[in-house]
Amino acid sequence: MGRSLSRECVRVLTSRSTSTRIDTNIREEVPVHDGSVQLPDGVRRMIEERAEAVGFRALKHAASAMSADYRASRAARQPDAARTAAYLATRMPATFAAAHAVLRELRERLGARPISSVLDIGAGAGGASLAACECFPEARTITMVERDPALAAAAHQWLPEAAVMLEDVARIKTLPPHDLVLAAYSLGEIGEPLAARLWQAARVALVAIEPGTPRGYALILKMREELLGAGVSMAAPCPAATPCPLAAPNWCHFAARVERSSLHRRIKDAELGYEDEKFSYIAVAREPVDLPASRIIRRPQQRPGLIELETCAPAGVRTVRVPRRDREAFRAARKAAWGSAWG
Ligand SMILES: C[S@@+](CC[C@H](N)C(=O)[O-])C[C@H]1O[C@@H](n2cnc3c(N)ncnc32)[C@H](O)[C@@H]1O
Repeated sequence: MGRSLSRECVRVLTSRSTSTRIDTNIREEVPVHDGSVQLPDGVRRMIEERAEAVGFRALKHAASAMSADYRASRAARQPDAARTAAYLATRMPATFAAAHAVLRELRERLGARPISSVLDIGAGAGGASLAACECFPEARTITMVERDPALAAAAHQWLPEAAVMLEDVARIKTLPPHDLVLAAYSLGEIGEPLAARLWQAARVALVAIEPGTPRGYALILKMREELLGAGVSMAAPCPAATPCPLAAPNWCHFAARVERSSLHRRIKDAELGYEDEKFSYIAVAREPVDLPASRIIRRPQQRPGLIELETCAPAGVRTVRVPRRDREAFRAARKAAWGSAWG
């Protein structure tokens, strides 16, 4: 399925003290092939230039160290140019793809309600902000909170007019209100309860995304409980604001397909041209949104003459079996994907 944003991506991005009208250099079209998404071409080119400047050996070494930290859930060590470039080449395409999948879903749930400003907490190199630009082209103000100067500088390269608050979020007393508040892959690193402060800043919606691991899901679940206690309206992925029916060893997570660049493949010694980024998330809104009857929470299973969908509905988790003879439902089930709304 292709999607084109044909009009020029022109927006007003506000810094803390100034407002400027700019033409961003974000490309105008996002190819979405069979559910996979890529960073804008211009951003990919800039990442490759940075990687070339660092050199392949240093990049590969930094990427291995970073993967080891990620697997051990350790905060990244002080980044240097190689580590930053390795992050941009190997992790940012994945966090962008996950944020893109979540924000596409939020866009659908919000319907015509516009998002004119985005606050990105622990913005890193701006992967989630870039996804927000794609999914909410009406957004005219992007503010990124990031404590790492090297990543903030990288974000500035492709989001030159976005405001960057180069600070530890824990030190910011009151977060500036924006329509959409995003915390993508940052709650686990920030490591302190943020739900109430993020929600206070969210005029329309709040989204949190974490790695699709039991630990990431536990963080999202905790945030979900705190937010529901604060009276939010559920937007996604849950079809209701009832207690989560999943119990260990199950955890709620989804996957976004990421196309690997040849550099990415070489760094990871990978053969496949893609990888599936697993993520857990929650999106909530100030106003009630239309919720689906249920959501598919595992990859659909094709059996002879039958498709099995594991769904989460307000009444709990259940397996829906769609036989081929039920033609219309079968057609819909063939198109359905892990993470899609069902019914
Ligand atoms: C894994 S990265 C995710 C970056 C980005 N959100 C994305 O999805 O691509 C987490 C980011 O959170 C930032 N971070 C962690 N703790 C922070 C804090 N206390 N204040 C501000 N930024 C923080 C880190 O520097 C890092 O850039």
